[in-house]
Amino acid sequence: MTVIASKCPDYKVTVVDISEEKIKAWNSSNLPIFEPGLLERVLKARGKNLFFSAEIDRCIDEADIIFVAVNTPTKTFGEGAGKAIDLQFIEQTARRIKENAKSKKIVVEKSTISVRAAETMASILHAGNNSVQFEILSNPEFMAEGTGIRDLENPDRVLIGSRNTPSGLAARDVLMDIYLHWVPEERLITTNLWSSELSKLATNAFLAQRVSSINTIAAICEVTEADVTEVSRAVGMDSRIGSKFLNAGPGFGGSCFRKDILNMVYLCEHYQLNKIAAFWEQVVSFNDYQMESYVKRILQAMFNTLVGKKLAIFGFAFKPDTGDTRDAPAIYICKRLLEEKACLKITDPHALDNAMKDLQGMKGVDFIEDPYRAVEGAHGIALITEWASYKKLDYQKIFDAMEKPAFIFDGRNHLDHKALYEIGFNVYPVGKSALKHL
Ligand SMILES: NC(=O)c1ccc[n+]([C@@H]2O[C@H](COP(=O)([O-])OP(=O)(O)OC[C@H]3O[C@@H](n4cnc5c(N)ncnc54)[C@H](O)[C@@H]3O)[C@@H](O)[C@H]2O)c1
Repeated sequence: MTVIASKCPDYKVTVVDISEEKIKAWNSSNLPIFEPGLLERVLKARGKNLFFSAEIDRCIDEADIIFVAVNTPTKTFGEGAGKAIDLQFIEQTARRIKENAKSKKIVVEKSTISVRAAETMASILHAGNNSVQFEILSNPEFMAEGTGIRDLENPDRVLIGSRNTPSGLAARDVLMDIYLHWVPEERLITTNLWSSELSKLATNAFLAQRVSSINTIAAICEVTEADVTEVSRAVGMDSRIGSKFLNAGPGFGGSCFRKDILNMVYLCEHYQLNKIAAFWEQVVSFNDYQMESYVKRILQAMFNTLVGKKLAIFGFAFKPDTGDTRDAPAIYICKRLLEEKACLKITDPHALDNAMKDLQGMKGVDFIEDPYRAVEGAHGIALITEWASYKKLDYQKIFDAMEKPAFIFDGRNHLDHKALYEIGFNVYPVGKSALKHL
């Protein structure tokens, strides 16, 4: 919404949320999320054509277009638990829109939901004898956290799904007008509602599948002396495949991949497409295996015991340039390392507050902002998030502060392994042979 406000000065954008605390933060200089470039843009547009308000009912009534971007987590209870999307927030929002709308509205699904969810929304909005007209569009969001502003300002494509009726197409054109303020027309794709909803799930499934695919190749590399960086380069230069999303690592994370694939699995099972459900579910279960493999590599390298050993964890966010830790591999990995009775010193430039919540109540873990302090007396370093700042650290100083033999487990192949080895580290990358002095 910040990008829309900054690109469309002729529109008034008001963001509402049931969390008054978040709205308060959005109205301060301490925004509730960290995203490069966001604060500057909020400060420029806020109070001009961008507003943050907790007065949801009034804002619903005043709006012509309502973007629904509420959370759609995986259901944790009852039918479909662990797979299906919990639609309670979507339903609450639809009911509130219906209660407060006195004039016709275009309702845009921004949240990622299941295929045919627009039907549920329409049923709620049109139930009873409300004379207000609602038109529902699907406009899934493809931006990635950490590069959100760049992705939104220069999107690969903007997808708009609508009903193929005169009022559906008219609503679609209203939304297209907004994007046409800065997105070239050829990048606007229009489809029917269901294709649009499915395209979002399919995109995340394909992206996650690429990560799992390269991680399977990394596992083969580790036992055959092939090097996953070399293999990934060779594979990625095939123009049919492309080079993006081919970096091996400790597994994918984030609030979307697992949730969206499992939602697709649930959808397939619902339609008795069981082989297809099993195909996609494998992408998720392989990711669990990958996180566990990273832990096993640490355990085996450190003489099969971590009891009482200090490990510095470099990076907790699910990716760099965000403070988001939702479904971050670091959560699983740290919990497993604690189970092995290691002592963890976790450091991250922006995610420590969330890390504290994720590991709340767990013993043997400290949260330390300064990486140089985190490594004092450590037996090993586990690099889980590839923050650019970790490349610039003085690793001789770090080595000197650590117990010997000193281990480094570069879960992202982010550092200069040869240089680390020469300093004296035992280096364990992903998908490559270890460089060890032992
Ligand atoms: N985070 C991403 O990178 C990303 C990318 C693409 C799509 N999505 C999708 O966007 C949606 C939102 O994701 P998010 O990461 O921003 O989630 P989030 O949990 O960070 O934010 C959702 C917000 O909705 C608010 N909310 C819940 N119910 C409400 C209601 N009835 N009325 C008003 N506000 C309400 C919550 O208080 C919360 O602040 C999800 O469906 C997600 O799958 C997210």
